Amino acid sequence: MSNSSSSLLAQNTEPGHRPPRAVLFDAYGTLFDVYSVAQLAEELFPGHGQALSVLWRDKQIEYTRLVTTSNHGAHYQPFSVLTRAALIYAIKKMVVGADEALTQEDFLLEHEPAIEMLLAQYQHLDAFPENLAVLQQLKARSIPIGILSNGDAAMLQAAVHSAGFDGLLDHVISVDPIAKFKTHPEAYALGEQATGLAARDILFVSCNAWDALGATWYGYTTLWVNRYHLPFEELGTQPTRTGADLRAVLDFFA
Ligand code: LAC
Repeated sequence: MSNSSSSLLAQNTEPGHRPPRAVLFDAYGTLFDVYSVAQLAEELFPGHGQALSVLWRDKQIEYTRLVTTSNHGAHYQPFSVLTRAALIYAIKKMVVGADEALTQEDFLLEHEPAIEMLLAQYQHLDAFPENLAVLQQLKARSIPIGILSNGDAAMLQAAVHSAGFDGLLDHVISVDPIAKFKTHPEAYALGEQATGLAARDILFVSCNAWDALGATWYGYTTLWVNRYHLPFEELGTQPTRTGADLRAVLDFFA
């Protein structure tokens, strides 16, 4: 895809609006490829790798919503803990099956090594190929850049380091200190607080349609990177722009 690929896709920028003054990226699914664990999952659970990685991701996000919206946040747990819980759920559903009445202890005895290997892999997810160059180009133009993620600080640091992004990011913002996951408005507010900018002056970039929608509703200028050729959410609001890969960010500064 070329740099101008996004121009073929939906564009919805207010005419005359000045370029964003900072760029914040979602982490998982946007900078880091959460489905890159599928290969290891396939080696560990032959025939289930792809489906397991999809269910793992879906359940992880479902758990973030469950703990944010239930019982005034009383059941909040950091993203790393929910990621582990979601993986256990996915293995139980896809691999073990409901009729095998395993105790949790027996389940862990059998599957703990695979769980640990997959979680370790999650600390070293592949970055999408064009991402490093895009971050470097933004940095070269002195545009403040950062991450605004559901991930907790330790896992974000590991992923940033593993992807070779050390020293590139001005902000690595985790929702963990406020114990509320996106799409809670307090989670998106962290981006304004860290940059000192109003949301409309910040470009928020996500491959997750729900996240691009939540950020748009909050007031960010948004880019939805539609890597998987999916329809956008059908809730009556569009992101500011849609692009095919991360290079579409650069079009905001053309
Ligand atoms: C994140 C997840 C939601 O990084 O992708 O915030």
